Amino acid sequence: MMNSDTMSNSPIWRPFTQMKTAPVPLPVVKGDGIWLELADGRRIMDCISSWWVTIHGHAHPKLAEALYQQALQLEQVIFAGFTHAPAEQLAARLLTHLPNSLTRVFFSDNGSTAIEVALKMAYQYWHNQGDRNRTRFIGFDRGYHGDTIGAMSIGKSSTWWDKFQPLMFETDVVPFPATFDRDDRIDQKESESLAKIEDLLQQELHAAIVIEPLVQGAAGMRMCRPEFLQALSNLVDRFGVLLIYDEVMTGFGRTGELFACLKSATAPDILCLSKGLSGGCLPLSVTLATEEIYQSFYDEDVSKAFYHGHSFTGNPLACATALASLDLLEQNPASYRSMEILHRRYWQTHLEGHPKLEHSRFCGTIAAIEVKTDGMNSYFDSIAPILKAKFLEAGFLIRPLGNTIYLMPPYCISPSELESAYQQIRDSIDSL
Ligand SMILES: Cc1ncc(COP(=O)(O)O)c(C=O)c1O
Repeated sequence: MMNSDTMSNSPIWRPFTQMKTAPVPLPVVKGDGIWLELADGRRIMDCISSWWVTIHGHAHPKLAEALYQQALQLEQVIFAGFTHAPAEQLAARLLTHLPNSLTRVFFSDNGSTAIEVALKMAYQYWHNQGDRNRTRFIGFDRGYHGDTIGAMSIGKSSTWWDKFQPLMFETDVVPFPATFDRDDRIDQKESESLAKIEDLLQQELHAAIVIEPLVQGAAGMRMCRPEFLQALSNLVDRFGVLLIYDEVMTGFGRTGELFACLKSATAPDILCLSKGLSGGCLPLSVTLATEEIYQSFYDEDVSKAFYHGHSFTGNPLACATALASLDLLEQNPASYRSMEILHRRYWQTHLEGHPKLEHSRFCGTIAAIEVKTDGMNSYFDSIAPILKAKFLEAGFLIRPLGNTIYLMPPYCISPSELESAYQQIRDSIDSL
């Protein structure tokens, strides 16, 4: 049987791909705003910001210019014992946009490493204070935090990694109170989740609880209310356990505010950012911490230091691009603040009441809906590849997660382009 490997003659082993059955990947020759241009001349509208990263659209001239100028100056330098202006400026500027309680910035280079840093930081925070019991973590049902072993351990309930269970560390999984428009069970779901968390916290065995605030991405854009985060934050405070926000996906305007912590008026002890940090241009991440956490490492004793780092930690090119991205976000907050109104408008015009759809939900620039299925409603739901292929054929990059169709476009999408995505969803669903 011909597979994508033999057909494309490529030695590349692709991510999240069964190489034997996957279609041949599409060669992209150019990006321009929301558009991807293929080698055969076709244009595809990127309605998901590539892997949720491209917040300002593809090949943005301001990001390209910042990258070029920095490359002429300093492309990379060891980050232990040396520093440079783009990293210093970026750290300082990020802090001005975040809750005051976050004062320290640790660089790494992707979402998973930001999480690994957060987990190790939280664990060592307790260890440095002589507490050897707090070795467990609490994660949320179907949460996704990346593909490295630590990130998999707190995201273990996502079921993708069942075979790796023996390699993972101890995590307790609690229900995520996922909600949608006109959900009349939400109060009950939130109370149940909080009660389960309280039971666990009473054991005094946990270093931290980790959540994707407001929106669980890979689980299928499952959304929770800001009120839940406020109740969670109060509860965790009461027990003195650390609260880690994974804003790898929700950061930099995705939820309609610059950060989900701002939108929910809550302040985590540790915050992870990546994806949109560099405007989706280069791999970069940060893990931010409170002064109290930082001080627990700050000591004459070298063994209390945080021994973690990566070759490209604080890469100057990525930091310079991130500064240019922050400029764009600061200059045009309406680009991410006003998108939810458009999502709701086009949903009402084109999809509301559709007999094959249910559970619509919106959070800032993110919109999601579920296709009613008789099947298992899982990530591997067979409807996903069918819909994905239909969308692509029509010129739209929309990749359903199981039976959830979602839109998460770059902020530069125009109202009429966004509306055309809704029209396409309706046409594709009608043709099922
Ligand atoms: C919420 C969240 N955390 C962490 C990650 C992992 O990030 P990366 O793919 O950069 O390792 C992702 C990736 O999708 C994510 O959505």
